[in-house]
Amino acid sequence: MQILARDAVVRAVERETIVSFRNLRKDYGAVTVVPDFSLEIRRGELVCLLGPSGCGKTTTLRMLAGFIQPTRGKIMIEGEDVTYVPAYRRDVGIVFQNYALFPHMTVAKNVEYGLTNIGMKRQDRSGRVQDMLGRVELEHLAERYPRELSGGQQQRVALARALALRPKVLLLDEPFSNLDAQLRVRLREDLHALIRNLEMTTLFVTHDQDEALTLADRIVVMNKGAVEQVGSPEEIYDAPATRFVAEFIGRCTLLEGNIVGHEFRTEGGLTLPACGLPRRATVVIRPENVKKSHELPGVLARQATIEGTDYHGAMTRLQLRLNGSRIIMDTQFAVGQKPKPGEQLDVAIDPSNVRFVPPS
Ligand SMILES: Nc1ncnc2c1ncn2[C@@H]1O[C@H](COP(=O)(O)OP(=O)(O)O)[C@@H](O)[C@H]1O
Ligand SMILES: [Mg+2]
Repeated sequence: MQILARDAVVRAVERETIVSFRNLRKDYGAVTVVPDFSLEIRRGELVCLLGPSGCGKTTTLRMLAGFIQPTRGKIMIEGEDVTYVPAYRRDVGIVFQNYALFPHMTVAKNVEYGLTNIGMKRQDRSGRVQDMLGRVELEHLAERYPRELSGGQQQRVALARALALRPKVLLLDEPFSNLDAQLRVRLREDLHALIRNLEMTTLFVTHDQDEALTLADRIVVMNKGAVEQVGSPEEIYDAPATRFVAEFIGRCTLLEGNIVGHEFRTEGGLTLPACGLPRRATVVIRPENVKKSHELPGVLARQATIEGTDYHGAMTRLQLRLNGSRIIMDTQFAVGQKPKPGEQLDVAIDPSNVRFVPPS
C-alpha cells in the first residue's frame, strides 16, 4: 500500500505541468472574489475545485478559459504565459453548466463547429466528428437538434464539442448540476471512463463533495476565494487540515478542547490521548469511526446515551451523548435490534482515527 502510494507520487511528480496558476487575483471593484490562487495541474490529471456556492470556482475556471481577465497574477499553459492570450487561442475545451449548445444546429454540426472555425478540411472534419460522436455514444443521434435530446445526451454533445478540438486542458463547470440524481451518478461514471481513456488533463468545478471524491485525482477545497487544502480525496477526507474542510466534506463531529499533558479534553468531559498539539484544538470524529465497544477490543469503552436515530438503509446514524458532548455515529443493527432514544450503548473511539485541526 505504501509502495503503491509512493509510486503514484513519483509518477505525478515526473509528469510535466500543463496548467499553472500563479498568484492569481480577481477583484470586482472593491470586492476581492479570488485573493491569491496558485495551483499546478499535471498532464492527465483530473483536478477538482470544490467549495460552496459563491466561493470563486467559476471565476477561477473562467480566468483559465480566458473569459475573465485576472486583476493580477499569471496563467501558464504548457509553459506559455497565456494571461493575455484571447480565449480562442488558448487550446482549452470547456463544457458550460447549461451546456450552451447551438439550438439551430444538429448534434453533428455542434461538434463540427469549432473544427470549421479553425479551418480544418471537410474530409478531416467529418472523420473527427464521427470519432467524437462514437466516443460519447451518440452516432445514432447525429442529425437530431439539441431540443430533441435528454439532459444527459446534451451534456455528451457539449463534451464531444469541447474535446473535438483536442484541447490541452478540458474545463467542466458543474457538469452534472442539471441532471437528476440517478442519471448524475451514471454519467459521472461514463465521464470518468472517457476522460481516463483520453488521458485528458481536466479541471472541473463542483459544490458536490461526492462528485469531487469519486472523480478527482486531486481536490482543491476553496472557501471565500482562498484555497483551504489541496490533496487526494483520501487526504482531504481522512486528514482535513481545517475545520472548514472537515465540515464541508463528509459528516463529522467537531469538538473544541484543551490539551492537558498528553490528553485532549473537551468542555463536555470527553478525553482522548493527544500529544504534540498546541494548547487548544478541535477534534474531528467521523461517524464511521465511532464503534460499538466490542468492535474495538483494547480501546477504552464509554457509555453513551442514544438521543436520536436516523435510518439510512445501509446504516443507521445515531446521535449520542457521551458525558457532556454530543457525537454522531454510523453503525448497523440486526433487524429488530434498532435501539430507541434514551437507551444506553457502549461505544469506543479509536484514537488513531481522530484528527485535530486548529480551533475556530
Ligand atoms: N461580474 C461580476 N461582478 C461582481 N461580482 C461577481 C461577478 N461575477 C461573480 N461575482 C461574485 O464573485 C463571487 C464568486 O462567484 P463564482 O466564481 O461564480 O462562484 P462559484 O462558481 O464558486 O459559485 C460571488 O460572490 C459572485 O457574486
Ligand atoms: Mg459556479
